[in-house]
Amino acid sequence: MSNPIFDRTDQLLAEIKSASISTLEELEAFRIKYLGSKNVIKPLFAEMRNVPNEDKKEFGQRMNALKVAAEEMFNSHKQSFDQAASKASFDQLDLTAPPASRNKGSRHPVSLVMNRIIHIFEKIGFAVEEEREIEDDWHNFTAMNTPEDHPARDMQDTFYLKNSVTNLLRTHTSSVQARVMTKTKPPIRIIAPGRVYRNETISARSHCQFHQVEGLYVDKNVSFADMKQTLLYFAREMYGADTRIRLRPSYFPFTEPSAEMDVYWGLESEADYRITKGTGWLEILGCGMVDPNVLKNCGIDPEEYTGFAFGMGIERQAMLQYKIEDIRLLFENDVRFLRQFNSAY
Ligand code: PHE
Repeated sequence: MSNPIFDRTDQLLAEIKSASISTLEELEAFRIKYLGSKNVIKPLFAEMRNVPNEDKKEFGQRMNALKVAAEEMFNSHKQSFDQAASKASFDQLDLTAPPASRNKGSRHPVSLVMNRIIHIFEKIGFAVEEEREIEDDWHNFTAMNTPEDHPARDMQDTFYLKNSVTNLLRTHTSSVQARVMTKTKPPIRIIAPGRVYRNETISARSHCQFHQVEGLYVDKNVSFADMKQTLLYFAREMYGADTRIRLRPSYFPFTEPSAEMDVYWGLESEADYRITKGTGWLEILGCGMVDPNVLKNCGIDPEEYTGFAFGMGIERQAMLQYKIEDIRLLFENDVRFLRQFNSAY
């Protein structure tokens, strides 16, 4: 004869299977009643000790079947409610609504100016070369004809790496020129954009890190006139079609002759007087014919080849172009400042 306790489990099973669940509230009531911490199945376990040994196994299986049936019932209803809810929220989508506004990023003003300069030189066939910022003494100074006792090597100007007398943070991207010349045969026509470091006191006007674009052209019969024409082209692309330039004699260890190039900025406002020190002319780059010693140091025969080189700082041009008064703003990464620039380049 079957144990009467089995009638109870039969009854509960039938109840679970026929439960009517048509709302979320009914689903929750079902969960509490059959699966919650005080569910109605639990008390039946207490009956286990009254069940004779030969029925214990079947009783256990029946109890388990109750739990499984309740879970199945709950899960299948929950799934159909979830599907209905997501369909409803899709139906409520307003496909004509304007898109939520997004925070657009912008390029850093230094990148904007640097990319413009790169673009101008790329148009006349200069290739971009990038190299390491941690350099050795040889590529930064020696190859560039900068003698051991040159003041530029002074600890005051150069950041040497801790415990090293040969490794340093490059002070100019001329080191890239040295690297390219030692591994490539002329004709060489490159520009070297990148970050450089000098041990200077940080102020509104100068910083211990800044960016440069240097250029190098080495081939047979490269002349000073070629350099002047290239730089005039650059100045006019950068500062407008009728920009005037002038070259003033100067000195760099790695070029001979050397010059500094000014562009005519004008004297229309008080600010113009201030920026050009009353002359109307603004210095924007250093340049010159590559010193034969530099070519020799890098394995290029100065009897066969000549070249010109130039180098310019980016921050100052960015400050002029965007009327930025303090160079430190360029390195603080304050989004209120950065947000003002767009990203044409
Ligand atoms: N290397 C120089 C500087 O850092 C710039 C320069 C490059 C000048 C090439 C002349 C020729 O100031």
